[in-house]
Amino acid sequence: MFEDLLPEIRSRFPRLEYDYLGHSRVFLDNGAGSMVLGEAARAEYEARLNYAAEHDAPAEESAEAGKVILKGRRAVADLLNAEEAESIVSGESATSLLFNLAYAVFRTLRAGGNIVTTEYEHYANVSPWLELKSRGFVDEVRFARFNPETYELDVDHLASLVDSRTRIVSVTGASNLLGSITPLEEVGKIARERGSIFVVDGVHLMPHYPVDVQTIGCDFLVFSAYKLFCRFGSFMYGRKEALEGLEPYKVEPAPERAPWRWEHGNRDPALFAAIAAVADYYEWLGERVGVEPKGFTGSGRRLKIKAAQTAIREYEVKLSRRVLKGLDELGGKLKLYGPSDPSKADVRVPTFSFTVEGVENRRMVERLWREHSVFVREENFYSRAVKSLGVQGVIRASFAHYNTPQEAEKLLGSLKSLI
Ligand SMILES: Cc1ncc(COP(=O)(O)O)c(C=O)c1O
Repeated sequence: MFEDLLPEIRSRFPRLEYDYLGHSRVFLDNGAGSMVLGEAARAEYEARLNYAAEHDAPAEESAEAGKVILKGRRAVADLLNAEEAESIVSGESATSLLFNLAYAVFRTLRAGGNIVTTEYEHYANVSPWLELKSRGFVDEVRFARFNPETYELDVDHLASLVDSRTRIVSVTGASNLLGSITPLEEVGKIARERGSIFVVDGVHLMPHYPVDVQTIGCDFLVFSAYKLFCRFGSFMYGRKEALEGLEPYKVEPAPERAPWRWEHGNRDPALFAAIAAVADYYEWLGERVGVEPKGFTGSGRRLKIKAAQTAIREYEVKLSRRVLKGLDELGGKLKLYGPSDPSKADVRVPTFSFTVEGVENRRMVERLWREHSVFVREENFYSRAVKSLGVQGVIRASFAHYNTPQEAEKLLGSLKSLI
């Protein structure tokens, strides 16, 4: 059982039990940035120290820097089941990768038409497209709505917005505020049928789900390493033809080939070393859980990684079910923004946003921390969803696979006593 592995899993994250001051706490701010895997921090440190020389020179330390970068690209390709290491572009953040993608679209395609996204996006997947509208490149950015009761994406509405003039369909894999999962395969089919470029913001989905770019059938997918047990950096998968078909901004001497022509400036081997350690961790976990990922045809390391991601997903659905039941038992004062039916916990990731009647969000978050050592956060989370919800901000408790059922109980008990 996954639960039996939790002590071992948790021991791999040195700051999970206690913060650097020795303060024991329940860390539920994973949606903002996860805990760092010990091996990822160590790999990063070693790469910084040992492979500080620039790659592409004959000296060993330089050659090694190049190897580490390639290893990191391979690791990301393994995590996503991408075709090859060259499908992986690195960047500073998901936001900068999406802006870069939008500029490449602007440079390459003819103007006109529309872009379709959703009402529950992070602005990283809104502002780049609005930028194209403000420059007159597209006539419209259209927002597919979510159901105000179930908080699930209204796929029929999205389908009605996509037409022959839709250049891009760009959706998040999971809302970082509502926790709702987007049915990516369905949306991808709609995008492909109309000949649109299909982009996925995988930032909030990646830590929770067996993401497989080939099954999703996307042209591009971005995610951020600092939400996936590293501390910095982001990656973009691009289908070969998609990476080669667009013309990103680049300096003249930079290579013409992907992924290098998409990358601005020098690469940091430490970023690649850290994500490679994360892929190793998934491989280890896959061996331990022994789960069969249904329908996955890959083998070897990729199969183990998929097994780990699948086991994480199954465990987190159970965790969500428990949290949803507990939140419901707290009564009407607590308003949850996101799918709430415990029997349908599989439509969401374990990200729970709420407000408490008569209590300021900030005050609640402070009391949860000071009186109960529960680390959650309140804000608007840069989410377009707040507009549709008509709120300024929410309190968000976001779990990761290393959070235990006892921690879920601690959150629920703390909320109960404060309410
Ligand atoms: C769903 C989603 N997309 C994009 C981002 C932005 O990521 P980055 O900070 O790497 O630009 C976030 C960050 O919270 C997010 O949750």
